[in-house]
Amino acid sequence: MVYLTRRERFNAAHRLYNPGWTEEKNAEIFGKCANSNFHGHNFELFVTVKGTPDPETGFVVNAHHLSKLIKSDIIEQLDHRNLNVDVEFMEGILPTIENIVIAIWEQLESKITSCELHCIKLVETENIFVEYYGK
Ligand code: NI
Repeated sequence: MVYLTRRERFNAAHRLYNPGWTEEKNAEIFGKCANSNFHGHNFELFVTVKGTPDPETGFVVNAHHLSKLIKSDIIEQLDHRNLNVDVEFMEGILPTIENIVIAIWEQLESKITSCELHCIKLVETENIFVEYYGK
C-alpha cells in the first residue's frame, strides 16, 4: 500500500461561538476565538490517499486529477471565505478545525474512486493541526 499526499492552502475567517451559550460562556470556552468580528488563518490542507500503484501508469492516483478535485470542491469553496457564513457544506457546523476536517472528508470521500481516501489533515497554525481518518 502506498500513501500519496497532496497539499493545498487556503485563507479563511471564522469565529468559534455557540449561539446556545451566553457571551460569558463563549468567552470562557473559546477565548479570543469567540471575538464577534471574526479572525483569520492561513490554513494548510493535506489530503492523503492510499492504494496500489496501477501496473500501467505506476500511479496510486493521478495527482493532477486529485489536485483538480481538491481545488474545485474544497479550496474554491473555502478560500477567502468566512467559514461561519459563506460555505454551503459548513452550514450549521461550528467551524473548529475538528469539524472542518470531517466536513472536508465528507465532501471528498465519495468522489475519490480510483483509490481510497486515507486522511485529511488541516494545519491551523504552526502549533496546532488535526487529522481525520474517517469514522
Ligand atoms: Ni481560529
